[in-house]
Amino acid sequence: MQTEIIKAKRLLICGAAVITLFLIAHQPCEASVRVRHSNASTIAVPGKSIFEAHCTKCHGADGTKGRYGAKNLQNSKLSDEQYRQIVENGKRIMPSWKKKLSTEQIEEVIHYIKTLKQ
Ligand code: HEC
Repeated sequence: MQTEIIKAKRLLICGAAVITLFLIAHQPCEASVRVRHSNASTIAVPGKSIFEAHCTKCHGADGTKGRYGAKNLQNSKLSDEQYRQIVENGKRIMPSWKKKLSTEQIEEVIHYIKTLKQ
């Protein structure tokens, strides 16, 4: 009888330890997931990586490459609205991006190309 009680106690302590460990292990995990989520909404898709993925082959990393007659983005004097028009709808060789990028991504990349200007 005595050993049964000891066994039961051990089981209880063991169970409690497992639950505690589970909770400890779970806490920081959930916290980091939450951090990643909030980052995703604040820095969304950074314009730089969109630019590097889609635009540098013609415009170059600094916007001056000019491949296929691509405009030098450092000298560009267009308004935000004109940027949006050109990036969404394209212009001659400049491709249209509205089907490939979201409105948010287009805004991000426009924000980024403005940072290329000195
Ligand atoms: C296939 C090559 C090519 C790619 C890829 C490309 N562009 Fe262009 N881009 C051009 C060409 C060519 C022009 C000049 C269009 C014209 O006026 O004839 C241009 C013009 C522009 C202009 C207008 C600049 C001005 O002052 O008139 C902007 C803004 C621009 N591109 C942004 C982008 C962005 C942002 C991306 C990536 C999402 C991109 N481009 C990808 C070729 C490209």
